[in-house]
Amino acid sequence: MKLNVDRLTKQFGSKIAVDRVSTAFESGIYGLLGANGSGKTTLMRMICGVLRPSSGEVTLNGTNTETLGASYRDILGYLPQDFGYYPDFTALSFMRYIAALKGIDKKLQKKRSLTILEEVGLGDVANCKIKTFSGGMKQRLGIAQAVINNPKILVLDEPTAGLDPQERVRFRNLISRLSQDRIVLLSTHIVSDVEYIAKNIMVMKQGGFILEGSPADLEKQVDGKVWELAMRPELIESATARYTVSNIYFADSETAVARVISEQKPSEAAKPIKATLEDLYLYYFRDEKPEIDILSATSTEGGFHA
Ligand SMILES: Nc1ncnc2c1ncn2[C@@H]1O[C@H](COP(=O)(O)OP(=O)(O)O)[C@@H](O)[C@H]1O
Ligand SMILES: [Mg+2]
Repeated sequence: MKLNVDRLTKQFGSKIAVDRVSTAFESGIYGLLGANGSGKTTLMRMICGVLRPSSGEVTLNGTNTETLGASYRDILGYLPQDFGYYPDFTALSFMRYIAALKGIDKKLQKKRSLTILEEVGLGDVANCKIKTFSGGMKQRLGIAQAVINNPKILVLDEPTAGLDPQERVRFRNLISRLSQDRIVLLSTHIVSDVEYIAKNIMVMKQGGFILEGSPADLEKQVDGKVWELAMRPELIESATARYTVSNIYFADSETAVARVISEQKPSEAAKPIKATLEDLYLYYFRDEKPEIDILSATSTEGGFHA
């Protein structure tokens, strides 16, 4: 199965939300990473056929998905970003309602609903009202409704928004399990949501892909651009004003250690360290900084003396 996006574009008035995006999907998890407003939702809505492109097309094994119509929708599962639940429905009644909407055989609706609720870890709360669910439970129900027709293509728009760390882990594992023999396209603005599970990551900015590749390939792009630099705590402010600093920790009360992202060594004492995808993300979304030596350009008194 091959899903292709070819020069897909969406314009709202004078605003170009998605700008000539082309890519190809085969089975596996694809992470769509980008800040708010970068065009993720608009792109996903076009891929799912709920929004018509201004130009370009989506094809499945070479055929335009608009032409495919219902036979495309039958193999598609979609969790929209603003998915609406019915608070007074129970999880099971909600699933049965979705099953009916999706045209699943009446005799199979209940069984299929229960099987999937079990699969996403909601089996024991199948008869509880949705309004009693936590954020993570609601999101898992969102996934459940998206996979009720056993779709070959699963599109999840910011499914981890608002989840706590434990729920995120659980969610990641669920998505990994669901990704066998399927295309899973997942959007997020949190790097760690996709860093370890996605086979391919696309980074979106202002409607276009600025980066695309496996997590390992992408990490290579920032290799040699990440540094660790120890300094006195008073220098933190000037360090962050001059460089993109992705993290700071205190080794002791006298020593702050900054993780600096920069093409050039930020100071003589800086040590190169291994880059992560988060570094890459920050590198591409960084503000312009003057990049003057952190330690030596201020009074030496503030510098770090080992
Ligand atoms: N229906 C719409 N009408 C006008 N502008 C829109 C509409 N939908 C999205 N946009 C604009 O398109 C851009 C991309 O939005 P969106 O696809 O929602 O981004 P993301 O999901 O990455 O946050 C934003 O600037 C947004 O304001
Ligand atoms: Mg969005």
